[in-house]
Amino acid sequence: MAKHHIDSNYLDPDYEPVVNHSDNTPFHEVMAARMQRRTVMKGGVGAALASIMGVSLAGCGSSDSKSSGTTGGSSSSSTELGFKAVPVSSANTVVVPEGYSSEAFLPWGTPITGSYPEYRADGTNTGAEQEQQVGMHHDGMHFYPIDLKSGGSASSEGLLVMNHEYINQSALHANGATDSGDNGGFRPADEVRKEIAAHGVSVVHIKQNSEGKWDVVFGSPYNRRITGGTAMDLRGPARGYSKLVTPYSLNATETRGTLNNCSMGPTPWGTYLTAEENWHGYFATSAADRPREYVRHGVGSSSRYDWELADSGLDQYVRFNVTPQDGGTAETDYRNEANTFGYMVEIDPFAPESKPQKRTALGRFGHEGVIFAPVTEGQPVVCYSGDDSRYEYIYKFVTARPYNAATANGSLLDEGTLYVARFNDDGSGEWLTLSLDDAGFASKVAAAEGTEVGRSGILFAGFENQADVIVNTRLAADIAGATPMDRPEWGAVDPNSGEVYFTLTNNSQRTEAETDAANPIVENRNGHIIRWKEAGNDHAATAFEWDIFVFAGEQGTETSVDGDVVVSLTDDNIFNSPDGLWFDYNGVLWIQTDGYSNDTYGNQMMLAANPETREIRRFFVGPSGCEVTGVVTTPDSKTMFVNIQHPRSNWPNASEDRPRDATVIVTRDDGGVIGA
Ligand code: FEO
Ligand code: CA
Ligand code: CA
Repeated sequence: MAKHHIDSNYLDPDYEPVVNHSDNTPFHEVMAARMQRRTVMKGGVGAALASIMGVSLAGCGSSDSKSSGTTGGSSSSSTELGFKAVPVSSANTVVVPEGYSSEAFLPWGTPITGSYPEYRADGTNTGAEQEQQVGMHHDGMHFYPIDLKSGGSASSEGLLVMNHEYINQSALHANGATDSGDNGGFRPADEVRKEIAAHGVSVVHIKQNSEGKWDVVFGSPYNRRITGGTAMDLRGPARGYSKLVTPYSLNATETRGTLNNCSMGPTPWGTYLTAEENWHGYFATSAADRPREYVRHGVGSSSRYDWELADSGLDQYVRFNVTPQDGGTAETDYRNEANTFGYMVEIDPFAPESKPQKRTALGRFGHEGVIFAPVTEGQPVVCYSGDDSRYEYIYKFVTARPYNAATANGSLLDEGTLYVARFNDDGSGEWLTLSLDDAGFASKVAAAEGTEVGRSGILFAGFENQADVIVNTRLAADIAGATPMDRPEWGAVDPNSGEVYFTLTNNSQRTEAETDAANPIVENRNGHIIRWKEAGNDHAATAFEWDIFVFAGEQGTETSVDGDVVVSLTDDNIFNSPDGLWFDYNGVLWIQTDGYSNDTYGNQMMLAANPETREIRRFFVGPSGCEVTGVVTTPDSKTMFVNIQHPRSNWPNASEDRPRDATVIVTRDDGGVIGA
């Protein structure tokens, strides 16, 4: 084990650090939440209650869908679930419904570029070889039809792009990671190189053969690895800002690598945005006084993998030590390196030579992913992003320039307005502007100066400019008065109704006094899914109405609207800790879990839901110890890709002795549409 001296939680391969928080719920609102709650808790530990304050969104989606002109033209029957629910399972294998088949694909270590170095099951592949192989801990993923750029929708060939969130050091190296404490205070540089290379993103050109079997297209120019060391540009408001100056980029326009890439978002112009979630853990500082940019995110005294201790002393590793050096400056040491992380990063899978672009206008926080609303010619582009940490927030970005299909590209994401969500207890909601140009926000900022902001207790000393607001997005949201949520993970937009869904995975620390209508569960161990509809069904609106789609939990956990039970969970659909979320091309909502496993729930799973009827059915159960995260289908909905992250033991190859994260391909034996 590599880490003996830091947070022992890091020894757990599926540990996700959860830091900090503000306390934004005034007492009178808490009282209002109490009084308006209509249904009562039912069932055992973790069972839930519903709290819909006279706002029922169910059904309004279907009536609006025809006038809104969104794609699909599908009748409600297209979202009906046609498979038999699978039971919970604790077996070390993937379970899919009767009439379906599954197969592991693209496991960690699969060669995809360069000299296509063969995977060695004894863990002896080098760092250089890992740079040419699929990374570890697969997460968010999207399938781009190979003919997308010419307007096509091929379902037998495309670019599968996926994140590699973090690593299992024990499995990655032949004999586990070398502990710096046992090695003179240093880590072998090639171990560090391999660990950095196992992070990031894979772009894999895949194709079905005549028998329908998928394989990597050998030698394709599209095959690519982006890692924790790949050169990237900084774009948007934080580009050029003094707090992003490093010895690598004296003008603060570039950085190296993307890390802890959790979920993602395909853009309307055919690129891929990868999220930087728990990036803070990769950096170490021994400074007694840490800047607020680090304090609010939990950048601390030691790093997750000790990369800064690589024995080669190379700049690309030393940079993870963000301690200001004696007599140094931002130009001579890496005190600012961590400020170049925490963003959404754009990758163009169809341009293999292109440099990834960090889109800072979308804010700096623990980005889980991003979800775009359907675009309309001449209207702004709108996207949503959750900050997955306890008591953190949900954000929205609205571009300054309108969408034009012929010219749209990532530069649209460099100018616009960042908002944060406030969920009122009466079922209404507001998008609060985080822009110093906004008089309301500017006055809140002025009023907050000299006070301790949020739960972090940071003594607020103002913002220098909008770049400073971006680098300190969480602090800005504290000041704006956003609603602290139960760990926002993935979002999804219903293609028929336009409603936006977000998973709130859990928050076992929420106290009675901290509950509100949108986060009503004390010690919320099982999580829930919230949804909202923007005013006028305009995604750029600054007001919305919300409700809770479902509370997760054991059998009998009820979700009620105005006293009517609309969901009561059964053996067919109990689940906890919703995380991944995706609307397929037919309007079916797929829910993936990353929670706790026991005799009741079995292993982590994926369920399908009908957004109109709230019918939910378990479709897939993963192998032991994993989380199920990342899902997409081909445009014809006949091949589904599902990622399995941090499996245990020797899944998927019983003949090998270490686990390998992998994509699972799910097909219907009759060749039909998945889920229908
Ligand atoms: Fe990486 Fe919040 O899941
Ligand atoms: Ca996740
Ligand atoms: Ca999670």
